[in-house]
Amino acid sequence: MAWMVRARLGRAAGVALAARAVARSLVGRHEAAPRTSRRDFLRWTVAGASTFALAEAAAGFVAFFWPIKFGRFGQRIALRPADIPAPGAAPIVNREGKFWLIHNEDGALALYWKCVHLGCTVPWIEGEGRFHCNCHGSIYDRHGVRIAGPAPRPLDMMAIEVGDAGVVVDTSQIIRRTGYDPSQATQLPS
Ligand code: FES
Repeated sequence: MAWMVRARLGRAAGVALAARAVARSLVGRHEAAPRTSRRDFLRWTVAGASTFALAEAAAGFVAFFWPIKFGRFGQRIALRPADIPAPGAAPIVNREGKFWLIHNEDGALALYWKCVHLGCTVPWIEGEGRFHCNCHGSIYDRHGVRIAGPAPRPLDMMAIEVGDAGVVVDTSQIIRRTGYDPSQATQLPS
């Protein structure tokens, strides 16, 4: 019995010695590690803050210039009867597709509402009976042809299709032109 007690006491003493040795080595390692100086701390703090500010500015820049999708622009848009003006009437704006639908003697035109000068949205001015860009004064007639102002060409247009789906405007293709030709107009079902 006595020999068992002695053996246990011996094992406990060994464990205590080993623990003391490990603690001493850890303390020694900690003391040996170089301490961060105040200057280093400030340097790293400034570097971190600058990096964060730059990343935030870059994210804001990208978000600002990322193209914003508006409605169904870029798709084929089926028109309802209420979207189609009578021949000779004022055009009807289609905000989803960003175009004016105008119905003239040769048929209908879907005119892209973006001014070909510097890109302002061109309104129809009922009192003038024509499109008149507020930005720099470009004026376009009912066919979208430039009458006055700095615009270099007629308003661009989009294709109109008439089929089983009814009257559809394809806003995925913006068509440039140098003038008006009756073949650009689409005859609509009455
Ligand atoms: S953007 Fe229309 S006239 Fe300049």
